[in-house]
Amino acid sequence: MNDNIIEMKDILMIFNKKIVANDNVNFSVKKGEIHALMGENGAGKSTLMSILFGIYNPTKGTIKIRGKEEVVTSPIKANKLGIGMVHQHFKMVDIFPLWRNISLGSEETISKTVINSKKIKADITEIMEKYNLSVDLDIKAENASVGMKQRAEILKVLYQGNEILVFDEPTAVLTPQEIDGFLEVLLELQKNGKTIILITHKMNEIKKVANSATVLRLGKSIGTYDVKTSSIEELSEAMVGRKLVEIKNEHSDPKGDNFLELKNIYANKQGFKKINALDNVSLGVKKGEIVAIAGVEGNGQLELANIISGMSSPNSGEVIIDGKDITKANVSQRFVKYKMSHIPEDRHKHGLALDWNLINNGAFEDIATPKFSRKGILRRGKMQQYAQDIIDKYDVRNADFGFAIARQLSGGNQQKMIVGREFTREADFHLIFQPTRGLDVGSIEFIHSQILRLKSEGKAILLISYELSEIMQLADRIIVINAGHIIGEIPGNKAERNQIGRMMMGEK
Ligand SMILES: Nc1ncnc2c1ncn2[C@@H]1O[C@H](COP(=O)(O)OP(=O)(O)OP(=O)(O)O)[C@@H](O)[C@H]1O
Ligand SMILES: [Mg+2]
Repeated sequence: MNDNIIEMKDILMIFNKKIVANDNVNFSVKKGEIHALMGENGAGKSTLMSILFGIYNPTKGTIKIRGKEEVVTSPIKANKLGIGMVHQHFKMVDIFPLWRNISLGSEETISKTVINSKKIKADITEIMEKYNLSVDLDIKAENASVGMKQRAEILKVLYQGNEILVFDEPTAVLTPQEIDGFLEVLLELQKNGKTIILITHKMNEIKKVANSATVLRLGKSIGTYDVKTSSIEELSEAMVGRKLVEIKNEHSDPKGDNFLELKNIYANKQGFKKINALDNVSLGVKKGEIVAIAGVEGNGQLELANIISGMSSPNSGEVIIDGKDITKANVSQRFVKYKMSHIPEDRHKHGLALDWNLINNGAFEDIATPKFSRKGILRRGKMQQYAQDIIDKYDVRNADFGFAIARQLSGGNQQKMIVGREFTREADFHLIFQPTRGLDVGSIEFIHSQILRLKSEGKAILLISYELSEIMQLADRIIVINAGHIIGEIPGNKAERNQIGRMMMGEK
């Protein structure tokens, strides 16, 4: 008997008549299993799942759900077939509170007209408690952090109650604690008879929960593996086609003055006037040093990054770069005059102009400088060459010589473009927030090596990351933050995971 709940056969997906995102992919999922979908950035994972979910119509191929051939023409149809999906990039209405976003499209109403907000909130709260996933239901989506929005997206798909659940990189922005919680959620859902497809770049997650794993490479399916009997190395190698090495900082203790300095910073929580997010934060970063901020998401990291990059101002305190007080300097002054570089937390909001091509996105912050424009006229040739260098070096896939629109790149390739741009720009200080978010293992290896290159070139680097392993691999010094306070500082070579973990929870 055939117990496959999903069978995708010979799926071909060609975008713009030339980009082959799925190349005759075969993909089957058994009822009741947790099936991981793996592959490098741009391998075609999101595309394949978007086809299953009715967002794209495949160029060729067939889909069977519960043994019956179906044409999934829209997400509404997919929902009707019992398929729910959490997308890699959130689809939220910014001005709605989270509870409305979570219930959007499946709202309970009172006599078919008024939305029954009380009941909806109570239902969502029940799910939050059952699965230990909490969000502030009344916060507007535009003010919620990326992590909170991710949790809300997960709640949304649970609220809809579908039988087949697709999660496209749900853990990329969650903290280690949240990830553990989320993996528990998956096992619980499996117990309740759901079938789950999980896209993730994190091997340990696959090892923890998945029964089988299908690997895509360059749009083709390489094979389906039994997770129990396959090693992490085997799966990674199938994915990138080569062996990987872990990059590690040799740790040093640079001398000299602080190049970047924060003095007694006080700031409000983003979107709130009365809540404190940073409470007397002072820190320094020297040239040739990587200082990392470790902390559970939402403990002031976002506000810290905003104040350093000039996106918001502190209530009091000073930001100093190379001995100059830049507290009042605007974003563009910081980027151009003070040679700051920034990989932002939210790549869509602040990292890319999604409707521009990569040539324009490559020049981004520096577009008005003599490098890219003269007497008000853009130097297109220079811009194109510059973008192409980034594309080549950082392996941005399907970039179409820079003419690809940013929005069309896969999530990981968008991230590589931003990192490539920020690491290629002339800068003395690098603020890097979750630099490897959503990247495949091979790309992480490369980006980490680039961060160490910047250090060896004498740049000052402040790394904000929720990945403790990333921090421990790269940092010369680790500063632990909790509830907007600096709890303490540990030299990178003496760091112990458990100690940092305890400090992250507020223990001194
Ligand atoms: N709407 C689109 N128009 C044109 N090209 C697209 C579109 N969507 C995806 N692509 C291309 O198809 C390829 C596969 O993209 P996809 O998003 O499926 O990759 P992915 O495996 O999910 O990668 P990641 O791990 O980075 O999320 C990419 O190279 C991308 O450039
Ligand atoms: Mg994707």
